[in-house]
Amino acid sequence: MATAKKLTIAVDGYSSSGKSTMARRLAAATGYRYIDSGAMYRAVTLYALEHGLFDADGQPDVEALAAALPHLKIDFSPAGDDGRQHTLLNGCDVEHDIRTLRVSEHVSPVAAVPEVRHALVAMQQALGQEGGIVMDGRDIGTTVFPHADLKIFVNASARTRAERRFAEMQAEGSQVDFEEVLANVMQRDHIDETRTESPLRRASDAIDLDNSHMTPEQQDAWLMEKFREAEQKI
Ligand code: DC
Repeated sequence: MATAKKLTIAVDGYSSSGKSTMARRLAAATGYRYIDSGAMYRAVTLYALEHGLFDADGQPDVEALAAALPHLKIDFSPAGDDGRQHTLLNGCDVEHDIRTLRVSEHVSPVAAVPEVRHALVAMQQALGQEGGIVMDGRDIGTTVFPHADLKIFVNASARTRAERRFAEMQAEGSQVDFEEVLANVMQRDHIDETRTESPLRRASDAIDLDNSHMTPEQQDAWLMEKFREAEQKI
């Protein structure tokens, strides 16, 4: 019996739109590999913070960052007891450290640096070479995998997304202020949408999903239906 071709699936959308959870659950249900491309931008940002590569205005030193890129190795560990794979930066588990508000506040200018984008897009394309992958991010359907078999664009209002992020951070034990989280979500939307290099854009052939009022189970069912339809097409 011929083995079914494995799809390449791109899930793009705004920050905290729930796309990572969706993408991870779809990967688990289909046996595909899940890659969180945002974690890769966060890992580079953590490195820049730890090595003093930001100026007082929070802008990265582009030259120093570009010089450091060839020395950064970003991997993902297999899923652990918590069912999540952890991001590894040069062999160290940085999964917790890359999710702090400090990293969230510095990541957008790093993700706007062309050298960073080129390096990470190349790594992401290499990870997806064999298909059988669900990758989430901002430019997966437009730049990383423009020929993906299934492209989903996820959206929800900024307030809904900030509420989710706030709940997540509280659950992780972070002391945060809701208005600060909302301001960060809105500021990241703005930077992600207006940067020159690969701005957050919906691919013209993406399927839209506004999940503001959907339960995780409804999202899973919706996604599985789109997955089956895409499988029929290849
Ligand atoms: O999805 P996230 O919030 O963890 O992403 C972190 C940052 O990285 C966010 O500001 C947008 C940026 N990003 C990007 O520019 N391109 C991607 N493919 C993924 C994330």
